[in-house]
Amino acid sequence: MTKETNWWKKSVVYQVYPRSFYDSNGDGIGDLQGIISKLDYLAELGVDVIWLSPVYDSPNDDNGYDIRDYQNIMDEFGTMADFDELLEAAKERNLKIIMDLVVNHTSDEHAWFVESKSSVDNPKRDYYIWAPGKNGQPPNNWGSVFGGSAWQWNEETQDYYLHLFSKKQPDLNWEHEELRQSVYDMMRFWLDKGIGGFRMDVINFISKVPGLPDGDKKEDQAFGDGSPYFMNGPKIHDFLHEMNQEVLSHYDVLTVGEMPGASPKEAIDYTNPENKEVNMIFTFEHMDLDSGQNGKWDLKQLDLIDLKENLEKWQTSLQGKGWNSLYWNNHDQPRIVSRFGDDGEYRVQSAKMLGTCLHMMQGTPYIYQGEEIGMTNVAFETIDQYKDLETLNMYNEKIEQGVDHNTIMQSIYTKGRDNARTPMQWSSEKNGGFTTGTPWIEVNPKYTEINVENDLQSEQSIFAHYQQLISLRKQLDVITNGDFNLLFKDHPQLFAYERKTEAESLLVLCNFSKKEILLEKDVVKNYSTNSKVIVRNYSSVELLNDFVLRPYEALVFYSSKSE
Ligand code: NOJ
Repeated sequence: MTKETNWWKKSVVYQVYPRSFYDSNGDGIGDLQGIISKLDYLAELGVDVIWLSPVYDSPNDDNGYDIRDYQNIMDEFGTMADFDELLEAAKERNLKIIMDLVVNHTSDEHAWFVESKSSVDNPKRDYYIWAPGKNGQPPNNWGSVFGGSAWQWNEETQDYYLHLFSKKQPDLNWEHEELRQSVYDMMRFWLDKGIGGFRMDVINFISKVPGLPDGDKKEDQAFGDGSPYFMNGPKIHDFLHEMNQEVLSHYDVLTVGEMPGASPKEAIDYTNPENKEVNMIFTFEHMDLDSGQNGKWDLKQLDLIDLKENLEKWQTSLQGKGWNSLYWNNHDQPRIVSRFGDDGEYRVQSAKMLGTCLHMMQGTPYIYQGEEIGMTNVAFETIDQYKDLETLNMYNEKIEQGVDHNTIMQSIYTKGRDNARTPMQWSSEKNGGFTTGTPWIEVNPKYTEINVENDLQSEQSIFAHYQQLISLRKQLDVITNGDFNLLFKDHPQLFAYERKTEAESLLVLCNFSKKEILLEKDVVKNYSTNSKVIVRNYSSVELLNDFVLRPYEALVFYSSKSE
């Protein structure tokens, strides 16, 4: 049943990475009671939905994205009673909780896999993807996302299983009807508790091309690229439609599919309400613009024109046909203020500018913990201070290939996932107030300056700015429904666009650089006479003659026919 309201189109989502959010019991690891104690903070920010990164029982090879038991809570995070309490406490504050649905793979310690690998005629055998080797080699040449082959040998059955991620994350076989039904049962378990929806981990990887053909392999690479054979695969729409009909359509929920490699055209197929699949997807295209040909660790300077072109394409392609999600950050991405802004002199202005630029677009915005106070990337001195398996595997591989230590560290400082995973900075107390114990990963030393306590004391803070952006979305229909029109396409520093409905319009001007931008008064003529500035990130605005956008300045003009 499609609900007319589509509440998720007007919602703002806040992502919590529980391990690093708030530790209530001093063991150095964030937990569910920690989240409960910070719900008032999230309510004050004004968000509507909390997305919890996985809280399920897990051996934590990939911080919970390797699930051992979908219907139990990870010991370090608490108990199912704590989860129920969290759900209730959130409800009292009108906050919905959405869960991470990780069903492309499980942990190798999941009971299904333990059975599946035990013998070829075990009833759970076909829950996973098994294949014999070829001439003593793995079944095909695919590499795993986290390095090495995507195949792992299993002694008991003398064959290989597929793992697109770590070898402790075997891929599930979605061709198997009983497996799909088991996943749907598990989804109902959580939905019946009253959760508000799911963020679906790499959900466009679940349908693999039959025969699992070799991928193209560049001469200097050890493995082939299997992605054309598992991204947006042949049965993906059937599987998502079935999941929708069997489960999701019976609840009024938000669904967002994480979909690397999906184009706007594919996004429309996934999110067009007529197709009954998911509400929206996470695209990766804008996050890949500062990577070279050899992937994320191959550093490249962002060209603002590329970013504008890309976001314009998503905004205009999906208008009226599908729905966008909007994000700069998550637990896999470096901190946006360090990435596309300036984490030095202009940290506050650039963090507010980036928030403004994103939040005035069409779609459902996602804020990642710490973004609302302008948390920055971290540069730990030694590799031992890093915890993420992707980073560590890459480091070891490159060292073996003879790449110089400092070059690798530069890539880690710029792109490593641990940039996002250092503990939330609550105060200037020891460990940023995150824990009274020893944090599982060190706190970013900038916590003495950048922390929630400081931001809550100032009306000019980044937090206050995000509060305003969120509340404007509730007040102005044009933010949800307006058309998008990019202006100054070729300007190398200015990101400017209009949003329009019959009744309202917005002009958004964002300076993405330290350089001043001289704008002729004509540019904002229509706006400056009939409109007011509703968002700004400098304390005063002067719009007399030609005017200057100062470093990282952001302005939003609003006009309405009824005013
Ligand atoms: C995407 C998740 O966001 C990431 O953190 C994880 O490592 C992979 N999927 C595998 O689950």
